[in-house]
Amino acid sequence: MPRSDALSDHAGCTEEHDIHGMRHARASHAIFRRVQEVTPARIAAPRFPLALPLLRDDVHVVQFPLDSYGDMADLAPMVDDEERHRMARLVRESHRRRFMVAHALTRLVLGRCLQVSPASLRFGIGPHGKPRLTGARLDLRFNLSHAGERALLAVAIGRELGVDIEKERRVDVLGIARRYFSPSEYLALASLPEDHRVGAFCRCWTRKESFLKARGEGLAFPLSGFEVSLAETAPQLLVACARAPTELDRWTMVSVAVDPGYAGAITAEGQGWRLTCWDSPVHGQ
Ligand SMILES: CC(C)(COP(=O)(O)OP(=O)(O)OC[C@H]1O[C@@H](n2cnc3c(N)ncnc32)[C@H](O)[C@@H]1OP(=O)(O)O)[C@@H](O)C(=O)NCCC(=O)NCCS
Repeated sequence: MPRSDALSDHAGCTEEHDIHGMRHARASHAIFRRVQEVTPARIAAPRFPLALPLLRDDVHVVQFPLDSYGDMADLAPMVDDEERHRMARLVRESHRRRFMVAHALTRLVLGRCLQVSPASLRFGIGPHGKPRLTGARLDLRFNLSHAGERALLAVAIGRELGVDIEKERRVDVLGIARRYFSPSEYLALASLPEDHRVGAFCRCWTRKESFLKARGEGLAFPLSGFEVSLAETAPQLLVACARAPTELDRWTMVSVAVDPGYAGAITAEGQGWRLTCWDSPVHGQ
């Protein structure tokens, strides 16, 4: 069954018309359902609810399909002028649409977390460009990633985090890994049967990227300075950090279950947090 069909008949999908989130805001425990605790599994996630009890030990990840919105009229008013300018600079129409959907849905989710309208949210950036909320009543942190037709948004209270999604593509995985991965990551990849390498390569890439994004410095932290496991899953995928050994205790890195053909990972501060995966709060017509 196509993914959108599988998800559209999930209980709790009655919020379709409440795109601005505030009119019917109430905690719906029927749809606040924990579907995943650290280990990834292919389970159709429930839609992100109208209101969410934000607990300190919770990390939430929301996956957005980016190409299913025919009419953008509901989404466009949510973004601000800066986002509109960034969008206008994108050459391809399909990329402009994806940018709009990713940013509008990010605002919709953050707005629901804070119980404010999406358009009222204000953002600043860290020294290396990591976006963050400003002026919010809660210390809500977030990170966004997009690849192909999907975006992944992570949110948590008082906990820094980084998320990454990549689309699996047939590229020269060993050539790229030799250049960017650590020697042990490269050897782990090279030891796999050829038909397992693309998946493992994407797992490794998203994990490394999620760590860089959690720290917020991008490539200022060297890719060779830390190592991740290429295993399908484990409670802690960050396995070494020679460059800054204390980082190993600071972060937990796990896989995120995303659609087939994609890989996802999240790195968040601390240990023992619970990961909950959600589907997009709204779908296109
Ligand atoms: C910032 C960086 C991490 C973005 O990564 P990306 O894969 O190009 O893009 P993603 O879609 O995952 O993330 C982009 C989003 O991250 C957020 N972001 C921007 N700067 C960020 C930073 N310094 N830290 C964390 N998040 C950042 C933004 O929300 C951005 O979305 P937007 O452009 O729509 O506003 C990238 O510039 C970088 O330094 N990447 C490292 C590249 C690399 O060699 N990785 C190899 C892994 S083996």
